[in-house]
Amino acid sequence: MILVTGGAGFIGSNFVLDWLADSDEPVLNLDKLTYAGNLANLAALQGDARHVFVQGDIGDAPLVQRLLAEHRPRAIVNFAAESHVDRSIHGAGEFIATNVVGTFNLLESTRGYFAGLAQAQQAAFRFLHVSTDEVYGSLTPDAAAFTENHVFEPNSPYSASKAASDHLVRAWHHTYGLPVLTTNCSNNYGPYHFPEKLIPLMIVNALAGKPLPVYGDGQQVRDWLYVVDHCSAIRRVLQAGQPGQTYNVGGWNEKTNLTIVHTICDLLDELSPRADGQSYRQQIAHVTDRPGHDRRYAIDAGKIERELGWRPTETFETGIRKTVTWYLAHPDWVRHVQSGAYRDWVATQYGAAGVADDSGRAA
Ligand code: NAD
Ligand code: DAU
Repeated sequence: MILVTGGAGFIGSNFVLDWLADSDEPVLNLDKLTYAGNLANLAALQGDARHVFVQGDIGDAPLVQRLLAEHRPRAIVNFAAESHVDRSIHGAGEFIATNVVGTFNLLESTRGYFAGLAQAQQAAFRFLHVSTDEVYGSLTPDAAAFTENHVFEPNSPYSASKAASDHLVRAWHHTYGLPVLTTNCSNNYGPYHFPEKLIPLMIVNALAGKPLPVYGDGQQVRDWLYVVDHCSAIRRVLQAGQPGQTYNVGGWNEKTNLTIVHTICDLLDELSPRADGQSYRQQIAHVTDRPGHDRRYAIDAGKIERELGWRPTETFETGIRKTVTWYLAHPDWVRHVQSGAYRDWVATQYGAAGVADDSGRAA
């Protein structure tokens, strides 16, 4: 079996669903169920003996050690993290606790478990750490895309905490010989994406008749990857990646934020038109920029293609249509995640009107 951490979050739950659709190898899913963890994502696995869910913290060493001893996984895939940049700007404590200290504790628990494995099991064991392109910092418009050799220049509390975790993972390989793999991926989108992030927020706000808050001029560039493609990349790296190596994962798909928002509005105009016949684009509201906002990310995913034969299968056009269609078909899921805690976050970040807050973020 494999141990997946953070498997009730956006990418983790997609990964668990995909894994069990593709294989009968069981998954032990360890998730703290923070605001971002949602067992409704895994409802399709109810009663499926191949999925064992445990609510807990990756930093809880006695718990993790017990789970490793009982279940004896052949691999660990570490998704568990605090993942939202804006939340890290409001308060970085949880990011340091989970992304840095939690990863350290998980590595230490894994090191102890690994030391007790027989030689053949050690040879097969892998610890795959799921990370982000944000560790590389921001690119100018004409700069070459990030390769695995790009210097680390994290700019937000979130990306700094992920960069720290990447360094810990690297060191546990170099010093202790733990067979680690690291993936650094660009922006994901798709089903089960929590509506605090750009794409799902724009879809749910548009349908609710709320403003679509675009930070600054909306000309920031991200490289977008459909989440199912990210999951297949992780499976491929787990299967064939070289211990100690890092692999960049991306969609070869750079777009400005404004282009993304326009595309979503146009799809909604087609699939679920406004009652008044106007375009959803009318709801776009430019608001004060994110502090320290990285201008451009771009991933060179050449290494994973050359060495492991992986390339994304979705184009942005096919992936975003699937995504918008999924949100239209799952209003109950959306309602469920828009709990009291979600409303508190929206009020903190965007203000009561959805476009302004006390710190001056204004339309
Ligand atoms: P998410 O916020 O949707 O989910 C994170 C999950 O981790 C949640 O289920 C949460 O309950 C769980 N969790 C948080 N702290 C925990 C802890 N201490 N112990 C156990 N579980 C804990 O995040 P996501 O978007 O699915 O991202 C997953 C991973 O992929 C993260 O490591 C993130 O840095 C990385 N990543 C995300 C993207 C993206 O675009 N979303 C891109 C590249 C890399
Ligand atoms: O690049 C990978 C990273 O992508 C992951 O490591 C992070 O976990 C993930 O959250 C994501 O980070 P971003 O900050 O790029 O994603 P987010 O969806 O928050 O924002 C995408 C862009 O849209 C960014 O330039 C900020 C902008 N934005 C975001 C929100 C929430 C807006 O203009 N308005 C908004 O309301």
